[in-house]
Amino acid sequence: MNIILLGPPGAGKGTQSAGLVERHDMIQLSTGDMLRAAVKAETPVGLKAKAIMDRGDLVSDDIVSQLIDDNIAAMDAKTGAIFDGYPRTAAQAEQLDGILEKHGRKLDHVIELEVDEDALVERICGRFSCANCGALYHDTANPPSVEGVCDTCGGTEFKRRPDDNEETVRKRMGVYRSETAPILPGYEARGIVSRIDGMSGIDEVAGAIDAILT
Ligand code: AP5
Repeated sequence: MNIILLGPPGAGKGTQSAGLVERHDMIQLSTGDMLRAAVKAETPVGLKAKAIMDRGDLVSDDIVSQLIDDNIAAMDAKTGAIFDGYPRTAAQAEQLDGILEKHGRKLDHVIELEVDEDALVERICGRFSCANCGALYHDTANPPSVEGVCDTCGGTEFKRRPDDNEETVRKRMGVYRSETAPILPGYEARGIVSRIDGMSGIDEVAGAIDAILT
């Protein structure tokens, strides 16, 4: 099973991908996470991407599609992939088709998380993650069970993303509307798009996704 989770920044793609990995033994392919790792490691890709990401613009199609291709090539052919934050442009959608074909895979579902944009600013500005394992939290909606201690790994250091401020979030939402939302009709024409209310609780959204996958 290969699925795309689509939705504007803060829609819950990363949160739901983590749940899917646990429940369905799939692999999450987040281009945002890959790029942040490249920035941290100061690789040539990371050095190019940092300023673009901090502004809330999109990194080049060829760079992100190459990252996806490399990761799929390293995966076991039987393991399902969750595309989180990719594709984000018409060119990436086309490149993904080519990558999947090359690796003998097909796209089963495109799941769009529908959300209210004003609420997303609050969601994103309250987001933080474990500095050790990357588990995602939110100041009010999803704090660790024990304050200051990661539920997943017991880590006690947390971090916030540099692009998680209101100005950049609104820019990223505009980019989603102009560059990413227009790829949906192409998938709709293939009959593989499902829409979910991303404003309901994390567990309800997870249940709705599972209902689509079964
Ligand atoms: P990326 O990392 O992909 O960011 P994004 O798409 O903007 O999405 P986010 O990670 O901000 O949100 P999310 O939907 O995963 O929400 P989350 O689950 O964390 O991209 C960052 C940048 O990298 C881009 O701007 C671009 O520059 C570059 N980039 C990446 N991919 C690229 C590509 N393909 N092409 C070109 N450039 C690319 O949830 C948010 C918060 O809400 C969390 O705190 C969570 O706990 C909470 N939450 C989640 N669900 C719920 C819920 N149902 N109810 C209440 N709270 C919830």
